Amino acid sequence: MTVLVLLGAPGAGKGTQAKFLEEQLGIPHLASGDLLRAAVGARTPVGVEADRFMSRGQLVPDATMIRLFLDRLAQPDAAGGAILDGFPRTRPQAEALDEALAERGARVDRALLIDVPIEDLVQRAAGRRICQASGHVYHLVANPPKVPGVCDIDGTPLIQREDDREETVRARMNQQLGALRDVVGFYRSKDILKTVDGRQPIAAVGESLLAAVDPAGAA
Ligand code: AP5
Repeated sequence: MTVLVLLGAPGAGKGTQAKFLEEQLGIPHLASGDLLRAAVGARTPVGVEADRFMSRGQLVPDATMIRLFLDRLAQPDAAGGAILDGFPRTRPQAEALDEALAERGARVDRALLIDVPIEDLVQRAAGRRICQASGHVYHLVANPPKVPGVCDIDGTPLIQREDDREETVRARMNQQLGALRDVVGFYRSKDILKTVDGRQPIAAVGESLLAAVDPAGAA
């Protein structure tokens, strides 16, 4: 089982690169944000609770997040491993993940930090568009769709995420960067952290991430 954790501030490019790594490595991409947005859309109890936090740019409480994500990680398609995008986001989540993996005789093989300066992140969020069907990610300038406003893969309309309004993006930065630093420190202390320069073009970031994945552990 190969478990990769993608780390980065909101808008650093985790979702974009997770899709690329999924194709290259043949293990599924599990995104905490996609799980939460599906729950919000379906108006489940978890979704109703999560919406209160997400709309303010705050982290969803650990207990809820840990249950939701670890349930997803236990599904059969992740038996051979997964690329974790957006989880863990706090130290308690990182510890809960370690415990759950240890029960399966597994561990986090590599934590990959996509490092992007804060000034670039607000601009990225403002230009981001996602497809309604599967959350494929575009950017109006850096990664536009072939036909404006339409997903290349699903043919569905592209929308702007609710939490990509500038004031919510700034709130996400303010409230979430401290927790990100904790999680980065957690994996650095375990000596499994690799940092990649996320200011490079999208394809170059992908190649840097692939190079940072230990071939013995994941390729
Ligand atoms: P989530 O959906 O995980 O959002 P996020 O971490 O804020 O990350 P984003 O999806 O905004 O960015 P990304 O890094 O995936 O970047 P992307 O590839 O899209 O979480 C949403 C909310 O849910 C959170 O705010 C929180 O409330 C809650 N939540 C989620 N997980 C949680 C947890 N574990 N615990 C508690 N709460 C949780 O790229 C961004 C844009 O930049 C795109 O337009 C893309 O095309 C463009 N781009 C990408 N790479 C490049 C590049 N190299 N150059 C130029 N443009 C680029």
